[in-house]
Amino acid sequence: MQRSVSVVGGGVIGLFCARAAAAAGWSVTLHDPTFGARAVGDGAASWVAGGMLAPLSEGWPGEHALLALGSASLRRWHDPVLRADLAGRGVVVSSGSLTVAFDSADAADLRTVADWVGAQGHDLEILSRSEVRTLEPSLSPRVRLGLSAPGELSVDNRALVLALESAVRDRGVQIIRAPVTDLDALTTDRVVVAAGWSTSRLLPGVPVRPVKGEILRLRARSGSASAPTRTVRASVNGRAVYLVPRGDGLVVGATQYEHGDDTAVTVAGVRDLLADAEAVFPAVGDYELAETAAGLRPGSPDNIPVVGRLDDRVVVAAGHGRNGVLLAPVTADAVVAELEGEPLAEAACALPERFPSLTRTRAR
Ligand code: GLY
Repeated sequence: MQRSVSVVGGGVIGLFCARAAAAAGWSVTLHDPTFGARAVGDGAASWVAGGMLAPLSEGWPGEHALLALGSASLRRWHDPVLRADLAGRGVVVSSGSLTVAFDSADAADLRTVADWVGAQGHDLEILSRSEVRTLEPSLSPRVRLGLSAPGELSVDNRALVLALESAVRDRGVQIIRAPVTDLDALTTDRVVVAAGWSTSRLLPGVPVRPVKGEILRLRARSGSASAPTRTVRASVNGRAVYLVPRGDGLVVGATQYEHGDDTAVTVAGVRDLLADAEAVFPAVGDYELAETAAGLRPGSPDNIPVVGRLDDRVVVAAGHGRNGVLLAPVTADAVVAELEGEPLAEAACALPERFPSLTRTRAR
């Protein structure tokens, strides 16, 4: 008899899990009140996100687990079968990222990342000022060094969500557009909780909390200078900023701070993002400020997601922080592996039992 699973949460993680479970032969029901009707004001991380897939250039000495998990998922993003499925649904995946330094301290950081990530076997390249200018002529002449990661990617997160919605429908996933408040009320054999920061409301021991991020969407106007063609990251006045290209302009992100479940966009957030983007890409002022938004990332205590079985019925997939879009493919494989009873070795760092609050409830 076909086994059944409920997936609670229809963000990028839940959608990827539902798609993978259906492909593995499970009868899947997906619960999400906003399925097919996403709105910026909901604050859902998947809809607000930038779509940057950059685990290598965001690597840092000592963060082995996050680098390994992120690069395992980046490999899956390069999978021709996934790419063909997404391309057939209109999702463009763009290649390359460039991190730029404005001063000697930032330049030293870029060399540290290049050395450490390179020593783990990944392909990063330090670029001189003139090489950066050749690659991305629209960037500020104040850039003094660059770090190129040609194998990194970016994806339009909203096109991705819509494509995954159509993919799960095509695979026969049943959609229930209502919130879940009680896991015991679900009648399926198994339950996957992928409800972002609100996962801890359903599973109180899971240490996931909202981490606010503000982000801008800028649209090119007639006569605007061309935006960079790859993801550009920088530190400006000690604040991280990134610019992700989109067909019609670019996305500028993101602030990061804790303020409960507040999704108001603040004046200071927009001011800082615009100032920092202008330091990187001086022509940004010509663009239309098309949208400001705030989303709630699901933060975990160690910045590694919480993915695995909590008991014989419930699997959790949450706590992806800044990396939900990046980590969705490896998370889906890990969740299906758990449903089949065999954890995925590549995702062992994400198992829930690393947290004392989750060791007692786990029954294998
Ligand atoms: N995905 C990058 C961020 O959350 O800022």
